[in-house]
Amino acid sequence: MTTESFRLVRVRQAFGDRNPNSRRYFESARKVLPGGHSRTVLTHPPFPLVFASGEGATLTDVDGHVYIDLLGDYTAGLLGHSERRVLDEVASALSSNASVGGIHPTEEKLASLMCNRFGLDRVRFTNSGTEANLMAITTARLATGRTRVMVFHGGYHGGLLYFATGQAPWNAPYEFVVAPYNNPEETLKLIDENGHHLAAVLVEPMLGSGGCIPANPEFLQAVFAAARKQGAVVIADEVMTSRHGPTGMAALLGVRPDLTTFGKYIGGGFSFGAFGGAAALMDQYDTSSPGGQSGPIAHAGTFNNNLATMTAGTVVLGEVFTSSVAVAHTARGEEFRRLLIDVVSRNGVPISVTGFGSMMSLHARTPAPVDATQAADRDSILQELIFLGLLQRGIYTAPRGMINLSLVHTDDQLAAGLEALADCLEAVGS
Ligand SMILES: Cc1ncc(COP(=O)(O)O)c(C=O)c1O
Repeated sequence: MTTESFRLVRVRQAFGDRNPNSRRYFESARKVLPGGHSRTVLTHPPFPLVFASGEGATLTDVDGHVYIDLLGDYTAGLLGHSERRVLDEVASALSSNASVGGIHPTEEKLASLMCNRFGLDRVRFTNSGTEANLMAITTARLATGRTRVMVFHGGYHGGLLYFATGQAPWNAPYEFVVAPYNNPEETLKLIDENGHHLAAVLVEPMLGSGGCIPANPEFLQAVFAAARKQGAVVIADEVMTSRHGPTGMAALLGVRPDLTTFGKYIGGGFSFGAFGGAAALMDQYDTSSPGGQSGPIAHAGTFNNNLATMTAGTVVLGEVFTSSVAVAHTARGEEFRRLLIDVVSRNGVPISVTGFGSMMSLHARTPAPVDATQAADRDSILQELIFLGLLQRGIYTAPRGMINLSLVHTDDQLAAGLEALADCLEAVGS
């Protein structure tokens, strides 16, 4: 056994000893929930923490430990855990009724906010980012009459659209063409080869789950141009990245998608997804018009316009996370990533940092990865030692190294995160 793996055994043991209540809840949950919960991403050895509550940028677990939350629910928690403006407005909206089972004015209000903010002609709501992407693919397939969809190695567009390691056997049964991210030569070749069979190209402006690896602007611009030349619909998955800059990350990289998908933070903590873009594509859903080749697309969904989410979304975009707040938050994230890079470069431990704006990731490898293959090629023991080491020091991040700044982190909390990382790196490097 290497020194590193011996150390990991001890750190896991200490984690288990520190968290007896989490362990008990987790073991009990496994009897009724395969794996102990319904979000695979939360899994890590020896068992994940169980949380009792959250407030601002902190979380309290069932053993009474308080953590500074540097994960921000994988970007959905942009507002922190207790943004009063959202919670109070939702409570007020729900004081007389829950879902009305019909049309209500808040849906149009949120749609207008989204169209104005993100430059969409039209938008439709779903319950998750996964559904938004499935619907965007469907929109493109029906508009073009074509079947193939280009995605990227390391991309993640939802539970049924998982390309971390290429194709996954549980993916929705579309004809996917998996291209290499940030590799224009290979990707353009594949676009040419698939030519008029290609209905859509679906791409994240930054691989989120794949390790916070931004697209090179030239790569993205070349892919958009080549796809358009072949008549394919270009879809940007901004489920995570629409928080960057005034109108999302695609615009910052100099591209304008035909369709964009959204999710996460816009729902203010409630289930949310949306897809929108060009009227010519979106009007396939207009039941008063002829629609596309097969007539209007029927897109129902009991909770698509649910009152809680629609209300929360209007407060998020209309009051809390305005364009100017988004610009400032992106800049604050850039600054924090620079400080993270300072911390890791002062230490001899081979860690790199990637990201853009308020989303970033620690990788137990150097140099920093530029695609998913490189991101996967890391020291998994060191990665886990850092994750568990940060937890031990009261800092909650993702097992894979992801960090997302929320609007409510104080400067002191961010400084505490940097200090904990420095301390942790010193311990693993010794
Ligand atoms: C880029 C991206 N697209 C889509 C999704 C799926 O969203 P949801 O979890 O709401 O289904 C995610 C979730 O992490 C994501 O990161």
